[in-house]
Amino acid sequence: MKENKFGKQGWTPERIGDLSGKTYVITGTTSGTGFEATQILLSKGAKVVMLNRNPKKAEHTINTLKQELGNAIDVLNIRMDLAEQTSVKKAAAEVLEKVESIEALICNAAIAQVPSRKLTVDNFESQLGVNHYGHFSLQAMLFPLIEKSKGRIVTVGSMGYNMGLKTIKFDDMNWDKDYGPNDAYSQSKLAQIMCIYELQDRLKKAGKTEVKAYACHPGSSNTNLINTSGSFLMKVIFNMMKISPLVQSAEKGAYPMLMCAIEEDLDQQCFYGPTGFSNFIGPVGAHKLEPHAKDKAVAERLWEVSEGVTGLKWNI
Ligand SMILES: NC(=O)c1ccc[n+]([C@@H]2O[C@H](COP(=O)([O-])OP(=O)(O)OC[C@H]3O[C@@H](n4cnc5c(N)ncnc54)[C@H](OP(=O)(O)O)[C@@H]3O)[C@@H](O)[C@H]2O)c1
Repeated sequence: MKENKFGKQGWTPERIGDLSGKTYVITGTTSGTGFEATQILLSKGAKVVMLNRNPKKAEHTINTLKQELGNAIDVLNIRMDLAEQTSVKKAAAEVLEKVESIEALICNAAIAQVPSRKLTVDNFESQLGVNHYGHFSLQAMLFPLIEKSKGRIVTVGSMGYNMGLKTIKFDDMNWDKDYGPNDAYSQSKLAQIMCIYELQDRLKKAGKTEVKAYACHPGSSNTNLINTSGSFLMKVIFNMMKISPLVQSAEKGAYPMLMCAIEEDLDQQCFYGPTGFSNFIGPVGAHKLEPHAKDKAVAERLWEVSEGVTGLKWNI
């Protein structure tokens, strides 16, 4: 393992300077790592555009943030349900109307471990539809402004990329056969990560190297993830784990995405997250990524499939 370039404690938000005049767009901020990342960005003076599916929860989030940081914070919510392509496209159009720059788009929202196979309104398996296709469309639509801003796209993946099939099930993307909650979640997170490395290649080929794309993950963090979408058994298991030292705070889980959104001179080829036990916890930095996440033939095909089913061609 390489030495952590940020020292023994790894990357921490103490490295963030004044973010006044900078705009960050982030998905899924009503709880967990997304909420913590938003709070830290706002505390450093950034403008934050939150994209959430539940307006009531978003309003509550804004009130909580104002209580913590004062009324002067520059935050707004735009309604977006990643499970509906029309909602994603509408929200992206609204972002483009309302902001002048995007320093980073942080794709954080997700559902996980959905116990039985469900389809979104667009007929995508729910985890692939929300986690991957939803964010793929959002990224494609916001790309022109991110490019103009010389900004970044940050994907919050998961160590789950290294579980399940470890490749993309092209002949059965919707899991008509052999659905498993963890296999389908793992595939959705693998798809998200693969598209980041594929995006880097496409940007490089087009000479658009001022836009950066990063993949990271929060390790094992104390959030609502399993409580929102997991089975009863998974909830019991994860809630037991939460009291063990193998689960860190949601705040620490936010550090990798903040690092990828802000830190200069990061190697895009790396995968970022906690570097301690099993990458669940520990100092934040770059760590090993298994080669299947960069399988070029699979990534190219996945990109084409994703453009096909979302009906969105990236303007790279
Ligand atoms: N926690 C972990 O140990 C862990 C491990 C590996 C990876 N991750 C990744 O970390 C990221 C953050 O998750 P978290 O752990 O902080 O979970 P969380 O507390 O459940 O937060 C997830 C956020 O995503 C939002 N969301 C879910 N479905 C959505 C949809 N259809 N449209 C828009 N927003 C939606 C949720 O909104 P609602 O409030 O409306 O539900 C919530 O704001 C995810 O990408 C997850 O895969 C987490």
